[in-house]
Parts: sequence; structure tokens; C-alpha cells
Amino acid sequence: MLRTHDSPELNACLVDRKVTVAGWVDRRRDHGGLIFIDVRDRAGLVQVVFNPEINPDCHKLAGDLRCEFVVQVSGTVSLRPQGTQNAKLATGEIEIIADSLKILNTSETPPFYINEDSEVDENLRLKYRYLDMRRPRVRDIIMLRHQVVRFIRNYFDELSFVEVETPILGKSTPEGARDYLVPSRVHSGKFYALPQSPQQMKQLLMVGGLEKYYQIAKCFRDEDTRADRQPEFTQLDVEMSFVTEEDVMSITEEMFIRMMRQMHPGKRFPSPFPRITYSEAMERYGSDKPDLRFDMHLGDVSHIVAHTEFGVFKNTVESGGKVKAIALPGCAAYSRQELAKLTELAQGYGAKGLLSMSLTRECSCLDGLTMEMVKSVAAKYLNLEQVKQIAIKTGALPGDLIVFVADKEPVVANALGKLRQEMGLRLKLADSDLFAFVWVTDFPLLEWDKDLDRWHAMHHPFTSPLENEIPLLDIEPARAGSRAYDIVLNGYEVGGGSIRIHQAWLQRKIFQVMKYTEAEIDERFGHLLEAFSFGAPPHGGIALGIDRLVMLLSGASNIREVIPFPKNQNAVDMLFNAPAPATREQLNELHIQLRDE
Ligand code: AMO
Repeated sequence: MLRTHDSPELNACLVDRKVTVAGWVDRRRDHGGLIFIDVRDRAGLVQVVFNPEINPDCHKLAGDLRCEFVVQVSGTVSLRPQGTQNAKLATGEIEIIADSLKILNTSETPPFYINEDSEVDENLRLKYRYLDMRRPRVRDIIMLRHQVVRFIRNYFDELSFVEVETPILGKSTPEGARDYLVPSRVHSGKFYALPQSPQQMKQLLMVGGLEKYYQIAKCFRDEDTRADRQPEFTQLDVEMSFVTEEDVMSITEEMFIRMMRQMHPGKRFPSPFPRITYSEAMERYGSDKPDLRFDMHLGDVSHIVAHTEFGVFKNTVESGGKVKAIALPGCAAYSRQELAKLTELAQGYGAKGLLSMSLTRECSCLDGLTMEMVKSVAAKYLNLEQVKQIAIKTGALPGDLIVFVADKEPVVANALGKLRQEMGLRLKLADSDLFAFVWVTDFPLLEWDKDLDRWHAMHHPFTSPLENEIPLLDIEPARAGSRAYDIVLNGYEVGGGSIRIHQAWLQRKIFQVMKYTEAEIDERFGHLLEAFSFGAPPHGGIALGIDRLVMLLSGASNIREVIPFPKNQNAVDMLFNAPAPATREQLNELHIQLRDE
């Protein structure tokens, strides 16, 4: 090694010992005769002092050092003089008095400060990601990610799971996104698809008798990027044979509990994780991934306002819609402009409008409320009893602002659900010491896709229906429930899974309900149906989004922060400048002609 010690090993016990360190120049300070540099390695910094009286040549060379030069320094460990210790630095008690210096490499001036955690344009950071990761924040996240993956591997290994790699060049498997296709050179006009997940592979591993499988798997989905979504991401993929929902959920829950205890001992989390059904989640939070760090639930006030003369409410309920509301704590004094902004926000989430009602803070509890304290255009159509019932339904107190959306139920749920999430965070209601895990269960099996005029699977088509609801597939597919479950953390879906179909006839039936033709079924899924005909065991599993999980564990605000080499918001790799055009030779070999040629 070019060094005798890494920075964390350097401490006062080594005083008077000769050491050699190697790393980057983080900072250089000239103090009269003495030159100080901080040498940075992967784990931290150590101060090195060049004294002209100890080694004049070495001191002269140190004068040439600039930030990010790569150096090897030998010297003697010494206690820092009284009053110059740096308590913020792990090595802050000592310094190295240099007697030799070797410049291993020079560096251009970096495009941004590496020794400061200053704001830098994200595309610039991504173009120079290798410099960005010299900064402590990115480096710490990469380390955390490593620890999470190592923890996962140890956990599943202890439980006798087998890690199996599955192919990247495969065939389309439906997870609801577009595929990335890879043209075949050998088979003109044919394409591999990159896996959206190893779903079918892991099920085939169960048919193959592996019984307990896991993998840290790369997945590829050609969908628009978002703060929590990348085209290329990593799953912890798990599958088990001879299990029920309870088995998969409890193994997953135990993993999270142990991980939290080990990595975030100061944080709280519910134990056991609460469970809510999909319909409760939609009803109460307007989302199937509710953030339970705060309450602010949706109150259904339809029956309270249905018989008033307020047209919007009355007509909506009469035509089968819903009127729901949430209470924004302490927001009763919102100005006209603030209310207009709130309405704009709700409209962005699909609401036609947003009606508000302020309960001014002139009394301390609902008992003291009078109609004079209620400010709303709807106030004159409501009596005090109705206002109190609305307040009780939404959990509102004097000083709060109640906001209403009236529309068809899915529109109300979506708009208020998103408003709830946004305002919960803006109003700082989310408890930052809480990891609010929640299982969401009892999803419907199918959803109606009105664009394609057919049913499609809410999770994926390999999800098992509830056994006693299989007959509904022939008469009322919308009512058939599934054996799927999602795990949600702080408002993000961090994982999802299900007990699968393992009988060929039932799998074929699902494809038929989804209006696949027999020819399509055989062409796309014949291999799976055939595999199921050879004694496929009952099985189920789950996949967790590792990037999303690390994002939440590290407190990062977007998923790109936790991926060493992510794509930017336009799905561009800024470092390699990918995607990039292919050469004519490459295209010819792949039998591809571009349309505008
Ligand atoms: P699902 O599609 O729900 O299930 O994916 C599982 C988890 O993967 C994460 N995830 C993503 N993370 C970042 N970027 C993306 N584009 C992205 N898409 C998904 C989420 C999600 O909860 N085969 C099934 C699992 C199973 O049934 O076992 C599947 O892939 O955290």
C-alpha cells in the first residue's frame, strides 16, 4: 500500500510514530513559514504541516500543491498545539509533521468545490459524478447503500435463501411500463427485452424447486423519470415456495425492523407494522401509499352536506359523487392569495375547484364555536350543527382551515390525497423521527383500462385472486380481490408482492379475462403455462425498491442522490452522454434502418 494508515486509524496513540498517508489535497493554507494541508481519503481528513526548518525541499514542493492534487506524505504524528485542536474532525487532536512529500498526480481546478457542501447544478454534478462522489454527502450515501445491501445479503443468507442471478437479455414481462428493447444481431428483426423485474424468472426458480430465492436485481423500465423513479433501478427480489401472505410479510417486516434497529437506532417505527386495506387507504388518505407520519385524514362529509341548498355539494352528491374534506391545522387565517394558491394546487391534482372554510380561533374548542366564526362562501347554506359535524369528520379545531373537493370519488381521492401529502410536508406535520411503515393489503385484482377498453392487472397478471372470489372473474371481475400486498414507508411504496397463481388453468383464465387472444397467450406466456403444468408449487414473494429505501434512510430528496451513476430528469446519463447515436456499421449489423435516413 502507498500508505501505512487510513485516516480513521490516526489518533493520539500514534504520537511520535512515523506514518505515511495518501489521498487528495482537500485544503491548503499558507501561514507565514508553515504550510498546512488537509489530506482527504475515503473516510476523512488529516492535517499535515510542512515546516521549512524540518525539510526545506519538501516545504518548497508543498507550495505547489493545489486542491485535488494526489499526494503521498510521510511524517511524524504530533499532538496539535494547545488551542488548535479541531473537535469537529475525527483526527482533530493530531497533525502529521511532514518530512517527505510525493505528488502522485496533479489536478485541474474542479468545476465545483469539493471541500464545501455548496449548491451545485445537478447536471454539472452528474457530468462530473466522480468528483461529486469525493464530497462527503454522496460518499456517505454510497456507503449507506453498501451497508443496506450487505445487511440484506446477511439476513437472507441466515434464513437459507439462495441468491440467484437471472438474465438481463430476456423477453418482455408485463410490469406495466414500456420495455427497453435490445436488437439481436444474429436474429434479424428480433429483440431481447431488458427485464422490468425478474418476476417470471423467480417463479420459474420456484418451479425448479429452489424454494427460497433472493437477488439484488437490476430492473429496467422505460417510463418518465420522477423524484422516486429511475429508468434503471435495483430491487431486492424475493420468492418463496409453500408460503402464505403472512410468511412473506413477516420475513420482510422482520428484515426492516432489524435493519432500522441496526442502522437508525434513534428512530421510531411502529411494531408490528400497521395494516390497512386498499379501500381504507383510498377512503381515508386518498392514496394507496399513505404517509402515516401525520394524520390529516380525508373526512367524507357527503351525507352532511347532501341536503343543503349549496348547489355544488348538493348536485355532486345527487349525481353519485362525493364531497370530502381535510383540515389544515392552524391555517384559518390564510389570505385570499394563499387560498388561491391552494386552489391552483388542487386543480393541478385534477380537482375542478377547492372550497374552503375557516374556523377562526376565537374559541378554544368546538363547543364554543358560533356561525360568526365560520368564514366560507358555503357558510350561509350550513347550520352550526352541520359545521360541527364537518369539523368532527375531518378532525378540525378552531384555528384550522377545512378544504373541500366535490366530484366523482376517484377525482376527490386523488386531489385531496395529493393535497394532504403536499400540505402535511409544507406544514411540517411529518414527525421526522418516525419511520412510518404500513402494509397495504386487499388490492383489487384488476382495474378497468378505459383507453384500451380492457381489464388490466393492478399489480401484474401473475398475482393470485382470492380463492373464493375466482368465480367472480366470470361475472364481475371488478369485485375480485387479490392476494397482493404493498409495503409503504413515509408515503412511498417501497415494495410490493403477492401470492402467485401456480395452476396453468387459472393463469390462462386471467389472461383470457384480460382479453389476450389464445395465440397471444401461447406466444407470450406459453413457457410459463407449460412450466406450471409440471408440478409448480404454491409460491409467493415480494420486491423492494432498494434505491427508494436508501433514499428514505438517508433523507435524500430524490432517488438520483442515492444511485452512484444515475440518469438525469430527462433519462440522460450526463457523464457518458448516453443515449448516443449508433454508428452506421453497428446499425447495419443489427439490420436497423433509421426512419429519417
Ligand atoms: P413493483 O413493480 O411494485 O413489483 O416493483 C417493486 C418495487 O420496486 C420499486 N420500483 C422502482 N424504483 C425506482 N424506479 C422505478 N422506476 C421503480 N419501479 C418500481 C418500488 C416498488 O415497490 N415483480 C414485482 C414484485 C413482486 O410481485 O414480487 C414488481 O416488480 O419500490
